[in-house]
Amino acid sequence: MRLAVNVDHFATLREARKSKEPDPVLAALLAEQAGAGGIVCHIRGDRRHIKERDLFMLRQTIKTKLNIEMAATAEMKKIALEVKPEIVSLVPEKPDELTTEGGLQVVQQSNFLQSHIQALQEGGIRVSIFVDPDLEQIEACRRVGVDLIEINTSSYAEAGTHQERLNALERVKEAIGLGRRMGLEIHAGHGLDYYNIRPLAAIQEISEFSIGFAIVARAAIVGVDRAVREMIQLVESKSH
Ligand code: PXP
Repeated sequence: MRLAVNVDHFATLREARKSKEPDPVLAALLAEQAGAGGIVCHIRGDRRHIKERDLFMLRQTIKTKLNIEMAATAEMKKIALEVKPEIVSLVPEKPDELTTEGGLQVVQQSNFLQSHIQALQEGGIRVSIFVDPDLEQIEACRRVGVDLIEINTSSYAEAGTHQERLNALERVKEAIGLGRRMGLEIHAGHGLDYYNIRPLAAIQEISEFSIGFAIVARAAIVGVDRAVREMIQLVESKSH
């Protein structure tokens, strides 16, 4: 199953009123019932959406896989080792960004990342790095010992022209090729929606898509079940 649903923005809506609803945990359970193969969430330093309570409740309730996105900090490592998700995805984080801006700079901090990743793995957690489709950064991912990589698809998703989109798709494919040759499992995500997913869904080497905003936005109109089922249909479709 290739769709993992990111539930952050159910929590964004909850926090807009500092309310109890919508509960991202309930949304995650509904997403699983609709067929999602995993649940993703991002605990940020400022706790603007997902909080510790959500992580512990997700850990106790979901039946598929929990993938927690986080910065590579001591505070987050401690949380990960307590919650013990199946996967930790290391992402860069800036306090004022609207969403994650770009992949992690791996080359520049490879010594630090290597020991950080090892500590998480010793706690029984598989580690992913969110990385741009940049061959040098992907090479470095192998050196720091990750189990898998998530290719950042935002340059593809945000391309202004058809040609730019084709170029970005080509870069994503090259990045996937290198990742596979290095023996890494490949995930992809960021900015993917019901309109731009098809060309990526055709790439069989991508074992999982991590999609959040588009699904939450559609769920607000048609409900979680339908929003998730419609995305699964696109991701799994054999006729692209
Ligand atoms: N992957 C990573 C690493 C992310 O940070 C995000 C956004 O939280 C996503 C995937 C999902 O992106 P979107 O919400 O645009 O689908």
